[in-house]
Amino acid sequence: MDCPKNSFLFTISCTILLLSYNNGGFVYAATNIGLNYGLLGDNLPPPFEVINLYKSLNITNIRIFDTNTDVLNAFRGNRDIGVIVGVKNEDLEALAVSENAVNTWFMTNIEPYLADVNITFITVGNEVIPGEIGSHVLPVMESLTNVVKSRSLPILISTTVAMTNLGQSYPPSTAEFTTQALNIYPYFAYASDPVNIPLDYAVFNTDAVVVQDGPLGYSNMFDVIFDAFVWAMEKEGVKDLPMVVTETGLSSAGNGNLTTPYIASMYNGNFVKHAESGKGTPKRPDSGINGFLFATFNENQKPAGTEQNFGLYYPTDMKPVYKLF
Ligand SMILES: *[C@@H]1O[C@H](CO)[C@@H](O)[C@H](O)[C@H]1NC(C)=O
Ligand SMILES: *[C@@H]1O[C@H](CO)[C@@H](O)[C@H](O)[C@H]1NC(C)=O
Ligand SMILES: *[C@@H]1O[C@H](CO)[C@@H](O)[C@H](O)[C@H]1NC(C)=O
Repeated sequence: MDCPKNSFLFTISCTILLLSYNNGGFVYAATNIGLNYGLLGDNLPPPFEVINLYKSLNITNIRIFDTNTDVLNAFRGNRDIGVIVGVKNEDLEALAVSENAVNTWFMTNIEPYLADVNITFITVGNEVIPGEIGSHVLPVMESLTNVVKSRSLPILISTTVAMTNLGQSYPPSTAEFTTQALNIYPYFAYASDPVNIPLDYAVFNTDAVVVQDGPLGYSNMFDVIFDAFVWAMEKEGVKDLPMVVTETGLSSAGNGNLTTPYIASMYNGNFVKHAESGKGTPKRPDSGINGFLFATFNENQKPAGTEQNFGLYYPTDMKPVYKLF
């Protein structure tokens, strides 16, 4: 398929990269790196402080998982920051019933912010295809696509899929949409088999080819997962679909020596370098990687263990959990 050249992905990959490092923690500023802003904590700083943090880091792409009123109100007037919002999984079934239901959702949850907030994407459900409620995603995406098209709004409609979908047949109708959002966590594959999977390969810490796939050589697991997805989509007839990595990251605690601040800083730091280099993957060498690190803060209302420790910052004092280098 042909991909519209006005897509978010195209825009950000053609923006000049502004990336800087210093020794004081996470101080990147890259237009193709975004941060997930998760809200599952009872000790998180108020949204305006979080926005000031993003500004101090020159982060211009943020993702939230729903259409949280407090957060979106705080983003008013900060149109230089693009915000991805989401339709919650639990709302999908009711919205799939009719285009009217989706219109009402849009008028309630998106319309009030359009004038002041730079909403770039609406993700419809998070990691629900394939699955019980997966069938509701496409009708809701179609209705939302109609809404934004009829209004000529520059908002892209997508859903996010997990890397566990590899090997499952992919809905070919995705080809109707402009961008695919994908969550990639090499950590889970690594943690499931740390004896056989080299750590350096899991955290982008080697240039040596670890996996050879025909003419394509891979030195990191992220690229393998990304390209596996590209191959899977091509098998469904979907070519050249821009991809946004909506989540990637590594926890800094909760699973012994597999989740340390040091390993997390290597993974996240090397991911940023990979994105900053402008290089793509072996299969898509010219595309570049656009991605959102997961997540801004440690979130104490997520399941105990690794899940609570994906944050780059502590919520209570907003200090970095680790230096990225
Ligand atoms: C953010 O951008 C401004 C203006 O380009 C620059 O002066 C500043 O050093 C950048 N901050 C970081 C943390 O990169
Ligand atoms: C909205 O955010 C996107 C992504 O960061 C950016 O490319 C675009 O320039 C922003 N729009 C405005 C009006 O600043
Ligand atoms: C974790 O500890 C085990 C047992 O001591 C060791 O074999 C393994 O190499 C360690 N892994 C890492 C990533 O440090």
